[in-house]
Amino acid sequence: MAGTGKFVVGGNWKCNGNTASITQLVKDLNKGEIDADVDVIVAPPMLYLPKVQSPIDRQFKLSAQNCWVSEGGAFTGEVSAEMLADANVPWVILGHSERRALCGESDEFVGKKVAYAIKNGLSVMACIGETLQERESGATQDVCRRQLQAIVNELSAGDWEKVVIAYEPVWAIGTGKVATPEQAQETHAGIRAFMASAVSQDVASKVRIQYGGSVNAGNCEELAKQEDIDGFLVGGASLIGDAFITICNSAKYNTY
Ligand code: 13P
Repeated sequence: MAGTGKFVVGGNWKCNGNTASITQLVKDLNKGEIDADVDVIVAPPMLYLPKVQSPIDRQFKLSAQNCWVSEGGAFTGEVSAEMLADANVPWVILGHSERRALCGESDEFVGKKVAYAIKNGLSVMACIGETLQERESGATQDVCRRQLQAIVNELSAGDWEKVVIAYEPVWAIGTGKVATPEQAQETHAGIRAFMASAVSQDVASKVRIQYGGSVNAGNCEELAKQEDIDGFLVGGASLIGDAFITICNSAKYNTY
C-alpha cells in the first residue's frame, strides 16, 4: 500500500549556525527554485525562529525542534506549544532520537508531547527509529511499533492529519551511512501496516512517512522513488541551500 499524501521535506538545522550563516542560508533558500509538488518545512534553532520567519519565502513553513509536554510554567529552559502557536510557528519536531538518547525522553513522554502540541494547533513531525544494535538484532519493526504505539495511545484517529511520521534509523543519522532504498522501503511499509492495524486503513494510507538519516542531493532520487517514502527529514544537507532545494525537488520522482 503506497502513501497517498503530498511529499513533505523537512530541514532540521539542529543546534547549528549563527546570525551570519543563517542569514546566508535563508538567502540561498529563497533563491532556490522549487518546481515539484512538495510541502517544505525548515526547523532553525529556537532562538533564530523569528530571524528566519520574516525574510524566508512563504513556501517554506517553519518548525521548532522541540517543545514542552504541557502548559508553560516553572519549566526553566523550555518553550511551550502555546508559545510556538502564538509566535506563528506551525510545526514542531518531537521525539528526535537525539532528544530521546541525550535528554532521556521516553516513548510515553514523546507520546504526551505529540498530543499536547496537536491540542494547541501545531502540526508534528514525530520521529522514530532503531539503533544499530536493535537493527542487528532484528528488532527494527518492534522498536518502531513500540515508539508509535506510545503516540497512538495519546491520539484520536482525527489527530493523525496533523502528524508526519519521520522514520530515522539512529545508525544513519549524521554518519553518512544512509539506509538503502530497500531497507527504508521495507521499514516504511512495516510502519504503514502497523498504522493500519493500530489506527485505521484510512489513516495508514494518508499519513506521510519521511525517511531521515544522511539524505543528500545524491541519494534522494533513489529513495524518493520508493512507494512508501513520502518525504525526508534532512539534517546536515539542510544547511546547504542548493542541496536542500535538490532534495525538495526529488519529490517529482515519487509517483505514488
Ligand atoms: P542527517 O541528515 O545529518 O543524517 O540528520 C538526520 C536527522 O537527524 C534529521 O532529523
